[in-house]
Amino acid sequence: MRTDDIRSAYLNFFQKRGHRVVPAASLVPENDPTTLFTGSGMQPIVPYLLGEKHPLGTRIVNSQKCFRAQDITDVGDNRHTTFFEMLGNWSFGDPTSPDGIGATGYFKAEQIAWMWEFLTETIGLDPARLYFTCFRGNAGLGIPKDTESAELWQKLLWAKGVKAEIGENPEAGMRSDEKIFYYSEEKNWWSRAGVPDNMPQGEPGGPDSEIFWDFGRERGLHEQSVWKNIPCHVNCDCGRFMEIGNNVFMEYRKTSSGFEKLTQKNVDFGGGLERIAAAKQNEPDVFLGDIFSALREKIETLSQKRYGADSKDTYIFRVLLDHLRASVFLIADGVSPSNTDQGYVLRRLLRRAVRFADRLNIPSESLTHCVNPVAFQYAEAYPTLLEKSKAIADSISAEESKFRETLTRGLKEFEKRLEVSVLTGKDAFELFSTYGFPLEMTKEMAQEKGMTINEEEFQEEFSKHQELSRQASHGKFKGGLADASEMSVKYHTATHLLQFALRKVLGGEVFQKGSNITHERLRFDFSYPKKMTDEEKSAVEGIVNRKINEKIPVSYEDLPIDEARKLGAIGLFEEKYKERVRVYKIGDSVEFCGGPHVVTTGELGHFRIIKEEASSAGVRRIKAVLE
Ligand code: ALA
Repeated sequence: MRTDDIRSAYLNFFQKRGHRVVPAASLVPENDPTTLFTGSGMQPIVPYLLGEKHPLGTRIVNSQKCFRAQDITDVGDNRHTTFFEMLGNWSFGDPTSPDGIGATGYFKAEQIAWMWEFLTETIGLDPARLYFTCFRGNAGLGIPKDTESAELWQKLLWAKGVKAEIGENPEAGMRSDEKIFYYSEEKNWWSRAGVPDNMPQGEPGGPDSEIFWDFGRERGLHEQSVWKNIPCHVNCDCGRFMEIGNNVFMEYRKTSSGFEKLTQKNVDFGGGLERIAAAKQNEPDVFLGDIFSALREKIETLSQKRYGADSKDTYIFRVLLDHLRASVFLIADGVSPSNTDQGYVLRRLLRRAVRFADRLNIPSESLTHCVNPVAFQYAEAYPTLLEKSKAIADSISAEESKFRETLTRGLKEFEKRLEVSVLTGKDAFELFSTYGFPLEMTKEMAQEKGMTINEEEFQEEFSKHQELSRQASHGKFKGGLADASEMSVKYHTATHLLQFALRKVLGGEVFQKGSNITHERLRFDFSYPKKMTDEEKSAVEGIVNRKINEKIPVSYEDLPIDEARKLGAIGLFEEKYKERVRVYKIGDSVEFCGGPHVVTTGELGHFRIIKEEASSAGVRRIKAVLE
């Protein structure tokens, strides 16, 4: 069974059970300024878990491409990847909802029975090698133990003649007749923000029940791992067990005093497509999966080495396989390498790939040849990759060439500094600004030499430099980071003015729902129920351009949240990090924001709205340019 077959079997299975297929969302979230990438299938559907009506009904299914930047440094073992596809099915509201919502929804009994049927019958996984975990309960949080799920799995296992006792304390070791285990909220609770303590108010979450595949004790994976001296259990990282799916029973919402039940009980299932394929092959190394085969062969040809032949190279192969595939998908979704946001993450991936390709003696300037193998492999599920492959290859090739201009000199500088002293944050910054070495890459190179870098000092240098790049837009300073963001910085400031003007013209109900900036335009999504008239659009342009002509200085202040609110600051900020927040003032516009911004609005040029359209229900989208 190919990975493509598993994907379509899953979509068919749930379609037959009344689910409508939703197309995958972009890797760059459309209306969620709190996160850079789509990292799970549920991310784009949060509003429906909270009660908004989904246009396709109460049962939906999809395969969502996901990217998790925080996993970059985990890549290298046999199963972590930054890009992956998550199979997902959802039910909004179960049949017993008090308000009758979700008359056609479902909850634990159906979800667990269907997952069992899909995995053991449709895919044909051996039931004896499946393990399950459930939430242990937490009296302090007022959330009970999920005995219902545990017993549902147990009955299904028993029906196949598998011994299936429920283990209360797996960390202390698993008995051979135990198949289902209770874990705390560290493992069996799911929300976008993680464990209950980290969830902001209003965030939905719930206990989850995970499914694991056992690659078999006989492989000795535990005994060979660094965990060999502690008991192996399903959540141990030795690689014997691999999580292949997670059923979240999302029925709670965080409040100021704890948790309350959502108005509807939701099911949020997420399963790693490649991991299910690995279980099907009973092959613990996902990089040996069919979905990587074309790219793996291309890297083998380019390097004239075979994957797996030399264990020292396996790590490098995996990094290349992961980073190149992820880069192809990110570029296809509109990301281009830069020094900010998504662009910076892509740059990190590609520059790391260049360095790793050198370690495998891959001829320089050949990463571009890795695009077609990915595009062809994914042609069935993502046909547009093929259409875009030329543009993707050009982007990768341009980034490789750009980096190669400074790579050799940068590496020489790096070595030179190591000879005389330890690498300082200043050195790391210079490697970044002059030679284009992403901080994380320098850190990794330093680690290879057994050294660490003072990141705080790096950040200080970085902030100083932002000051300089602000001056750069006055032509006082040339070089360094200025290319990265001069135009984006202008668009960022213009976005503040736009929001201010929209609130003046359309009223205080207007709030930011999303924002996306490239060096060519700004895009701003905001809450507003109807199409703007031409008069309203001109009025908004007029206000913004007046503010530009007034050459208003842009200033900021770091304030405690309450004081910032008293000032009337609007906008989004990441509550979880901050007691004090940065507030930018541009005349009467006061917004929470981390910057950076231009020095005065006079730098912005002329502001023009090029498009105003619906983005989703109750949300409008404006695209505008500075000329
Ligand atoms: N949203 C759940 C996860 O990402 C299914 O694990």
